[in-house]
Amino acid sequence: MTDTLLFEHIDEPGLNTIDVYMARGGYTQLPIALKMKREDLITELTGSGLRGRGGAGFPMGRKASFIPKGDMQKYVVCNADESEPGTFKDRELIQKNPHQLIEGLIIAAFAIDATINYIYIRGEYDQQADILDAAIAEARERGMLGENIFGSGFDVQLELARGAGAYICGEETGLLDSLEGKRGNPRLKPPFPANEGLFNGPTLINNVETLSAIPSIIKLGAEGYAAIGVKDSAGTKLVSISGNVQRPGNYEVALGTSSRELIYGLAGGPPDGRKVKCWFPGGSSTVVLTADDLDVGYDYDSLEAAGSALGSGAIIVVDETQSVVELAYKLAKFYSHESCGKCTPCREGTRWTFHMVERIKEGTATPMDLDIMAAVQDQIIGHCLCVLGDAMAMPIGSLIAKFRDEFEAEIETNRNAREAQLAAQFSAAEGITV
Ligand SMILES: Cc1cc2nc3c(=O)[nH]c(=O)nc-3n(C[C@H](O)[C@H](O)[C@H](O)COP(=O)(O)O)c2cc1C
Ligand code: SF4
Repeated sequence: MTDTLLFEHIDEPGLNTIDVYMARGGYTQLPIALKMKREDLITELTGSGLRGRGGAGFPMGRKASFIPKGDMQKYVVCNADESEPGTFKDRELIQKNPHQLIEGLIIAAFAIDATINYIYIRGEYDQQADILDAAIAEARERGMLGENIFGSGFDVQLELARGAGAYICGEETGLLDSLEGKRGNPRLKPPFPANEGLFNGPTLINNVETLSAIPSIIKLGAEGYAAIGVKDSAGTKLVSISGNVQRPGNYEVALGTSSRELIYGLAGGPPDGRKVKCWFPGGSSTVVLTADDLDVGYDYDSLEAAGSALGSGAIIVVDETQSVVELAYKLAKFYSHESCGKCTPCREGTRWTFHMVERIKEGTATPMDLDIMAAVQDQIIGHCLCVLGDAMAMPIGSLIAKFRDEFEAEIETNRNAREAQLAAQFSAAEGITV
């Protein structure tokens, strides 16, 4: 079942401009929300069942309700860092429909009475940053931002901040440090950003897709939005599908749609009749699933029951022609490079895992190394300051658990190849013909 809310009109030329957005009903929900009492607005957001689309799936309205009331400066920060491998949905939302995000963000800002707000966008998104800059300027010119918007008495500012290309700056507290002009290192929690966030002020941090869903919630009402999807997974979800599929791209579906329908129906499945070997359901940091799991519903609870997670909503499909060792190598290389180094299990564990997979590739590993590698992943999970360490340990640990035979076979093959090569070199050096 496909439902389009976020992607309604998405391919219409010029939708990124305020005129086309408004011609398609844009900025009609903002004045409605501004007439609501703040507590009623938060009740509406909570009742919609919208869960955060950035990775953790925390209920959006509940997070907004944690923001303390009072005269202190409060902030909404939109997380547009989008660096999780396989995830590219926020890019399309920003590029093609930036005003939907801005409208949703202003409604969230009004709900918690945040007058100063930011969108933090990943450094590599140059074109998207320019589009957002232009859209913010248009919104300001038309009175959607600024003082006393729509005569509501609410003053609201929005600024765009650029990252510099670090995955860890997508982690919400690393993002806050970076936004404050410091090195982007995760902070110890508690205190949570809702109480002590940007410049120590109460801060609501939400993903691009989460905030972009808000105008639809006001339009449909909490009940109308909650009626889409399945229990505890309300609404539609953008799913980035990549890897070995015939039609990679972003697809909007009602939560609860079967994963098989997503991978085979929408994305066309692997090319040339090849079979799915495994797939990551929520970006590269989630536990890998196999072809046996293809009928799992694509929603928070079903994926959790299958032992994995919906994460950022990015399916990466790996077909039977790919090597799991190569996959583990790429994962370990990425996460060890992106570890901020603040805590030992992540800093040492990611680096060490990368070198162990390198040894398998070079032919110097033994089957016992696989047990040690699996044990190291267990030691990382749950022992780090933020979940970047787990983000490597969960996929690698699950790859070893589910494809052990293949790892062992590759260890054996690569050892034999290396020994043969060494013997040949030795013979050549000694002038012996073997
Ligand atoms: C290492 C790491 C990277 C993350 N990267 C992103 C990201 O790029 N975008 C994002 O929205 N959330 C990311 N998150 C999740 C955020 O910390 C946070 O949960 C999210 O922005 C909250 O928004 P939501 O409730 O709307 O999902 C990341 C988390 C971790 C641990
Ligand atoms: S888990 Fe990794 S990225 Fe997160 S704080 Fe520790 S070292 Fe830094």
